[in-house]
Amino acid sequence: MDGSNSSASASPRISLSGSALRWWRGLAAREGRVSATRRLLNVLVEFVRDSTPERRRQRYGDADYDWDHRVNTTSAAVGWRDRLLGVFHSPYQPTESVLFHEMIRALGEHARIDFSEFVFVDLGSGKGRTLLMASDCPFRRIVGVELLPTLHETAKQNLSGYHSESQKCFAIESICGDATEFPFPDEPTVLFLFNPFPESGMRSMIANLEQSLRAHPRAVYVLYHNPLLEHVLGESALLKKIGGTHQYAVYASG
Ligand SMILES: C[S@@+](CC[C@H](N)C(=O)[O-])C[C@H]1O[C@@H](n2cnc3c(N)ncnc32)[C@H](O)[C@@H]1O
Repeated sequence: MDGSNSSASASPRISLSGSALRWWRGLAAREGRVSATRRLLNVLVEFVRDSTPERRRQRYGDADYDWDHRVNTTSAAVGWRDRLLGVFHSPYQPTESVLFHEMIRALGEHARIDFSEFVFVDLGSGKGRTLLMASDCPFRRIVGVELLPTLHETAKQNLSGYHSESQKCFAIESICGDATEFPFPDEPTVLFLFNPFPESGMRSMIANLEQSLRAHPRAVYVLYHNPLLEHVLGESALLKKIGGTHQYAVYASG
């Protein structure tokens, strides 16, 4: 994985045709070729619809955070190639600030953790909005992992240009790579997820996390925004649900 000092040109370019083919093959294995091809055509039609000026204007609805903090984390300003890659991996969409702070508050209430002992990890960190928001808490350090080099580059620019009087953590890093293969640090961890993977990727990541927890038992909390694949966490013998609403779920190790 490339660390925060790498340039976009040094990061591996993600192949569009390879991503589409893997996506189609995964679907074809589960549902058959005809159904997979139909789904492919449907998502491509939806992609074209989503590219109209009207839809683009709607995506600017999430830009308040950017105006307030002079950063670029909106999904509106994402190029067509990255949006199309998002169809086959997971579309970039930043977490809303109000909801993020609600999740952090819920974690504090349910777990009463000392943030300074924890690393905050966002797998699928996009342009880095959660990394900036998490820096309002006194985490020991903050790490984001993003698959798409362009989004990772924007995250790096956001991290270096960000100034906030409420900032308490300054050790922030964006890594470019496949988060399903992320080697978890052996530290107490707050893991943030906003649907970065399809189910197969989610299962690989949870298997990595379980292996890491068995090797180094420690406190790990998972904040799962819009938990569409919550059953995957629910099946883990090492994670227990400790809170949540219809918008998010909070899980804890042990
Ligand atoms: C819904 S967005 C969440 C962005 C950010 N976590 C937030 O909450 O503001 C999901 C992100 O996961 C990224 N992603 C998809 N597959 C990934 C993978 N295998 N490894 C790392 N990032 C991935 C996408 O490019 C996208 O930026």
